[in-house]
Amino acid sequence: MNKKLVVILSAMLFISIAFKILKNNSLFEINQLHTKTPGIGIQANLKILDQFSITPPILSKTGKSFVTLNKMGFDINYTNLSWVAEEFINFCEEHPGEYVLDVGAGYGFLSRYALSKRMFVISNDLEMEHLLYSRKKVKNPDEILRLFLNTTPFPYLDIKKNSLRAVILHRVLHFLPGAEIDLGLENINSWLKEDGKVYIMVMSTEHIAYREQVLPDFERRKKNGDLWPGMFLDVPKYLPTQAYCLPEQLHIMDQEVLKNALQRHGFEIERIGYVSMQGFGTEDGRDGKEAIGAIAVKKTRK
Ligand SMILES: C[S@@+](CC[C@H](N)C(=O)[O-])C[C@H]1O[C@@H](n2cnc3c(N)ncnc32)[C@H](O)[C@@H]1O
Repeated sequence: MNKKLVVILSAMLFISIAFKILKNNSLFEINQLHTKTPGIGIQANLKILDQFSITPPILSKTGKSFVTLNKMGFDINYTNLSWVAEEFINFCEEHPGEYVLDVGAGYGFLSRYALSKRMFVISNDLEMEHLLYSRKKVKNPDEILRLFLNTTPFPYLDIKKNSLRAVILHRVLHFLPGAEIDLGLENINSWLKEDGKVYIMVMSTEHIAYREQVLPDFERRKKNGDLWPGMFLDVPKYLPTQAYCLPEQLHIMDQEVLKNALQRHGFEIERIGYVSMQGFGTEDGRDGKEAIGAIAVKKTRK
């Protein structure tokens, strides 16, 4: 190989390694800062956060979403919002100046909607890089002041009782086992103010890709009193085209299971139903039953 070419390639390699090290160092510092910050998270206007250079998210194979960096599903580049998201945003509009929590915010599109409705937003995700990308997209200085970045795994967040107006868990609960969902709903109930609301969208048992194979076993477990009969959906087997960006197993549920869980933890159901994901994925015959959604209101327990 030509000597000049070798020098150029070595220099490029050196620059890319140096860039990676710098990036990892600043991410490490930011994560350290988060660990030392008690409560709702790092305030997004902190200058140290500017040190981190953002790499734009990568499109999924279908080109309809971004892949998450931690292989926790796809962050949808929404043009059509789900009814759950739409109702959440409308609710925010009615309560400007209050606090909301976006659990599993991913690249933060819902957090940014809530900011635009003048909410204080705790944007929570396991992956700090997702949240830093979202922060970069917030251009309004007033909105930056109302944004908090939080990477504590749900349900273990440290949030004051009776402090939130709403919590949204949009396409995240299917990554959690039943015990953590139970703990999470109990915590959300304590974090919410009276009449505060929880908004949920989660994968359904009736997705065309697997319903015929999994429903008999799901129904049997449910009949036997299992509160979370849809844990352990085998992803490589039933969702092979999406498996490259998902964990090995997912937790699916039907409306009854979700309704019962919400009621066990002091919520009154306001709305529950299917949420269509027909515009996404690769299977033929999607029929609008790919996900389920619920909106529930905190009621004082007697
Ligand atoms: C499929 S994405 C959903 C992103 C966005 N909410 C949406 O609807 O497009 C799921 C996100 O949940 C996050 N996540 C998974 N488990 C979590 C947990 N226990 N606590 C906080 N975030 C979690 C992942 O890091 C990932 O970014």
